Amino acid sequence: MVSEKVITNIKNFMFKFQECTKKSGDRAKLIAVSKKKEFQLIQLAHELGIKFFGENYPQELRDKNIQKTEKNLHFDWHFIGRLQKNKIKYVVGKADLIHSIDNFELVEDIQDYCKKHNIKQKVLVQINISSDPNKGGFLMKHLQSIIPKIEKKEHLQLCGFMTILEDNLQDEEIRDYYREMYKISQNYIFNDDIEISMGMSKDYTIALEEGSTMVRVGTEIFGPR
Ligand SMILES: Cc1ncc(COP(=O)(O)O)c(C=O)c1O
Repeated sequence: MVSEKVITNIKNFMFKFQECTKKSGDRAKLIAVSKKKEFQLIQLAHELGIKFFGENYPQELRDKNIQKTEKNLHFDWHFIGRLQKNKIKYVVGKADLIHSIDNFELVEDIQDYCKKHNIKQKVLVQINISSDPNKGGFLMKHLQSIIPKIEKKEHLQLCGFMTILEDNLQDEEIRDYYREMYKISQNYIFNDDIEISMGMSKDYTIALEEGSTMVRVGTEIFGPR
């Protein structure tokens, strides 16, 4: 059962998000992170106006996508979790955008799968901007060599960058890292609409101020998991 409180929470968050994006030019998209949340809640959030949902686990995405198809709903999945070779089939072609390209083997594996199934897959390159040993993503020093190689893969469409920060940072450190992400993205304009996926529940307002085009927010919308 979805409670009134949940509905109010979703509506309140959407209002706050719209207020923030007004200030930053209205371009940013809200990716509602729905991992571990039941499909009924996703459907409700969609009815309230959310168009993009982020999932972390391949099989969960596959299962929820079956429900989406059965109910003939029109919203996009974004895949934001770690992806392993044997799970590519659950995600590629189902997620509109994969945010978490964090190693070159994965690039080659997705390219091979897409070629075989005649799919073009939109992706973001995950950057480990704070060089945190506990986080995935490419280190800055590898970017320059990796980007042209990804751009050459004809079944991948590179749309921009994503980052995840560790939990224990101060606001000013968060701002500095997000600012750096923006600067990097300006060196790699693949098209006019380069995407920068950064910002979660605790720091999405800072991310939007620093040029995020996609915030991935779960807890603030749906409550704790
Ligand atoms: C990659 C990624 N982005 C965003 C989120 C959403 O985090 P929060 O619930 O803090 O908004 C998660 C949650 O697990 C995540 O894994």
